[in-house]
Amino acid sequence: MRILENHSLEALNTFGFRVNARYFVEASSVDDLREAIAFATQKNLPVVPLGGGSNLVLTGDQEALFVHVNISGKRVTSRNDECVGVTAGAGENWHEFVRWTLGERAYGLENLSLIPGNLGAAPIQNIGAYGVEIKDYFQSLQALDIHSKELKNFALEDCQFGYRDSIFKQSARDRFIITSVSFALDSKWSPRLSYDRLQQEVEQRSDGSPDPFVVSEAVCGIRREKLPDPLQLGNAGSFFKNPVVGEALLKKVQAAYPDVVAYPFEGRWKLAAGWLIDRAGLKGCRHGLVGTYNKQALVLVNHGGAEPDDLLGLARHIQTVVHDRFGVELEVEPRVY
Ligand code: FAD
Ligand code: EPU
Repeated sequence: MRILENHSLEALNTFGFRVNARYFVEASSVDDLREAIAFATQKNLPVVPLGGGSNLVLTGDQEALFVHVNISGKRVTSRNDECVGVTAGAGENWHEFVRWTLGERAYGLENLSLIPGNLGAAPIQNIGAYGVEIKDYFQSLQALDIHSKELKNFALEDCQFGYRDSIFKQSARDRFIITSVSFALDSKWSPRLSYDRLQQEVEQRSDGSPDPFVVSEAVCGIRREKLPDPLQLGNAGSFFKNPVVGEALLKKVQAAYPDVVAYPFEGRWKLAAGWLIDRAGLKGCRHGLVGTYNKQALVLVNHGGAEPDDLLGLARHIQTVVHDRFGVELEVEPRVY
C-alpha cells in the first residue's frame, strides 16, 4: 500500500474540480484501511473515504488522507423461495453490482440501475430512484470504526435510513468506513412501476410482458435522456434534495402556482425542486463556466474549467431565487468538503 502526497483528485470527483488531497491511498482490504487510519492519526489528519466521487463537492485542496475504498468481491450467501441474500465489497461499482444481481436471479434493485458510484457509498444517502430506495432491500453492512479500528455490524434498524439520509450523515458522520453491504433480494420478481414515465418506457420496450432486464434497460434509457454523463459534463446528479414542506406552505405555493409538482410524503408534501428551479426561469441557465442542465434544472453542471466557488455561488443564487419566489428552502444534497 503506497500513500501518495499531494495527489490530484480531478479524476475522482465527477465535477472534475482540480483539487489535491494532502495524502491519498488505495485500500483494497480492511488491513489496508487500518494502516491508512494509523497513518492519518500519526499525521493528525482526518480520514475521508472515497468511492466514485459522484456525490461530493471538493471546494479546494484537502488537508486530509483520502482513502479510495477498493474492497472487491460479491457473492450469493443464501437462497430460498422468497429471498436471495447477497453481499459485496464496498469498492464494487454500483451499476455492475445491480446487473450482477439480476444475472443471479435476485431481484429488486433494477430500478436503481445506472446510479453512478460504488457500493460503499450507497447506504450513506440511502440512494433512490424510480420509486425504490436501497433501504427496501438492505439487510446489513460492515463498517470499520475510525476511532477504535474495530469492525462493526449495522442492521437495517441501526442505519436510520430516510429520504437521502442515514445515520452516516447524522450522528455517525465521519466515524465509519463501510467495507461491505448485504441485501435481501426477491427470488420472485414483481415489477415496481409506480413512476409513470418508467411504466410507459417499460410498456414500449416489452409488449406487455416485462422482465427485470427490460426494467433495468428502461431505467438506463430514461436516465441517459435526462441526466448528463459526468465524463462529458461535470455534475453530481441532483444538487438539491426535493424539499419536504407542510400543508400550509404547499397551499401558499399552490395559490400562486396551481401546477406546482408535489407528492404526499410521510404526512407532509415533497415538492419537485427541479420544477421550482425551472419555474423560476433557471433551467439551462449559465453563469460563467457553471450552470444548470438544460434537460433537468436540478442538476448543476461544470461546463469545463470552473472553480468550486463558481458552483457554490450559483447554488446560493438558486437558493435565494427559489426562496424569494416560493418561500421554500433548498438543501444541498452532495457532501461539501
Ligand atoms: P462518493 O461521492 O465517493 O462519496 C459520497 C459520500 O460518501 C462522501 O461523503 C464519502 O466520504 C462517503 N463514502 C464513500 N464511500 C464510503 C465508504 N466506503 N464508507 C463510508 N463513507 C463513504 N443518487 C441517488 O440517490 N439517486 C440517483 O438517482 C442518483 N443519480 C445520480 C446521477 C448522476 C449523473 C450523478 C453524477 C450522481 C447521482 N446520484 C444519485 C448521486 C451518487 O451517484 C450517489 O450518492 C452514490 O451513492 C455516490 O457514490 P460514490 O461512490 O460516487 O460516493
Ligand atoms: N421537473 C421540471 N423541470 C425540471 C426538472 C424536473 O419541471 O427541470 C419536474 C418533472 O417534470 C417532474 C418533477 O419535476 O414532474 C420531478 O422530476 P424527476 O422525475 O426528473 O425527478 P427529480 O425529483 O428531479 C429525483 C431524484 C433523482 C432520481 C429521480 C428519479 C432527488 C433529489 N432526486 O429527481 O436522484 O434519479 O428522482 O427517481 O430526490 C440524485 O439524488 O442525485 C438523483 C439524480
